[in-house]
Amino acid sequence: MQRIHPLEGDTVRVGLLGFGTVGSSFAEVLAAQAEAGVRITRVFNRGVERKRLHAKATFVPRDAVWTERVEEVLGAADVDVVVELMGGLDPAEGWLRSALQAGKHVVTANKQLIAFRGGELFALAAERGVQLLYGAAVAGGVPVIPGVAQGLCGDEVTRISGILNGTCNFILSSMETGAEYGEALSRAQAAGYAEADPSADVDGLDARAKLCILARLALHAEIDPEEIPAETIARIAAVDFAYAKELGCTLRQVSRAELQDGMVSASVGPMLAPRSSPIAWSHGTQNMVVTSGRFGGDVVFSGQGAGGHPTAVAVLSDVRAIAEKSAQVRLSARRMKVKGDAVAPHYLRFVVADEPGIVAAIAGVLARHGVNIDCLLQHRGYPAERLPFVITTEPCPSSTVRRAVAEMAAMRFMVQPPLCLRMLIVNDTERD
Ligand SMILES: NC(=O)c1ccc[n+]([C@@H]2O[C@H](COP(=O)([O-])OP(=O)(O)OC[C@H]3O[C@@H](n4cnc5c(N)ncnc54)[C@H](OP(=O)(O)O)[C@@H]3O)[C@@H](O)[C@H]2O)c1
Repeated sequence: MQRIHPLEGDTVRVGLLGFGTVGSSFAEVLAAQAEAGVRITRVFNRGVERKRLHAKATFVPRDAVWTERVEEVLGAADVDVVVELMGGLDPAEGWLRSALQAGKHVVTANKQLIAFRGGELFALAAERGVQLLYGAAVAGGVPVIPGVAQGLCGDEVTRISGILNGTCNFILSSMETGAEYGEALSRAQAAGYAEADPSADVDGLDARAKLCILARLALHAEIDPEEIPAETIARIAAVDFAYAKELGCTLRQVSRAELQDGMVSASVGPMLAPRSSPIAWSHGTQNMVVTSGRFGGDVVFSGQGAGGHPTAVAVLSDVRAIAEKSAQVRLSARRMKVKGDAVAPHYLRFVVADEPGIVAAIAGVLARHGVNIDCLLQHRGYPAERLPFVITTEPCPSSTVRRAVAEMAAMRFMVQPPLCLRMLIVNDTERD
């Protein structure tokens, strides 16, 4: 039986590490909830004088100590819970270890830290009899972490899939109305949803860290984020939405993990999703997670996946759970290997300099690799020297279709390498 470090008094005292977007919003949301029984006593940030001039610094109690010396928070007698809202692996990991060692409960929104070091940090928290909660680390304000941990621990979850990156969802749902990728990315950057260097989001690295966190919780599988194949959304073009629409689909960055034969079949990348599926419903910066349980069936979580206020709500909910001494369900996880391959129909988009015999040449390569064609789509009105058309395949292993596509990329008439995307099937008859 795990013994949780006791909290003394009626008020839980918070030492805040990081007064940025989420940290300052946490102060604001907390200030609006006088009855929460939570009080900020210390705030750590570099350049703390600059932070004290922040418009939201007024939400921090006047008697709170502002400091640039992290040890003045980690070991402080007037701190019960260290709330880490800085981000990054280093120095956050070392500091949170020190906080746990010192017997402080910890709440963090740091997905990288929980994805890469979560196992060790949970073990340390259990050893020290304190709690480590991270409800904001996946899907921001959507309570998918407590929902899965508390609400679904009675089921046997076999698959999780969803939209875990709001930036990609904003870009792809903007492209649904005809924008090209570059234009949609610029819009996301202007709105503050994408970084100047958007690679962590668009190349799937952010989403795969979150997928690992969900896999540990829902599938009890400890997997290495770097083993999950991640594909960029940067190669998607407006024409793909036109063809996808004809197929009754749209495009989204989808993260999926499923238990299969003692392994986890997992991937992150752009996929075609049927317009009737929950995945296709999410627009803008929304996040969406669908869990599939052996007994309870599908459960959908959806809402704002990012932003100061929604994320701060998740952080404060964790702090309040600690303050209320809410019981946490202990979930074990075991190390599992990742299988990147999957059997599914695929969408192949070619851009060619038109000449006779192209379709026959492509069909020949697919036939040699044992891939059956399902349909061919070609819209009129494109220039003959850059002609986009699409072939969809019957279900086949991704590895097979990718080998065929690599062979086709060298063909004389290809203007650019073919795009190869997996197609999700509604109701998930799509078994990997
Ligand atoms: N923003 C969201 O929508 C969102 C959603 C879900 C989860 N999260 C997670 O929440 C955490 C915070 O994100 P955020 O958007 O609030 O980031 P942010 O705006 O960049 O805030 C981070 C704060 O921490 C400070 N900081 C960072 N490293 C530090 C260091 N080594 N020493 C001292 N101070 C340091 C920064 O100071 P400076 O101002 O000097 O840089 C800044 O005030 C991250 O783990 C993020 O992944 C964010």
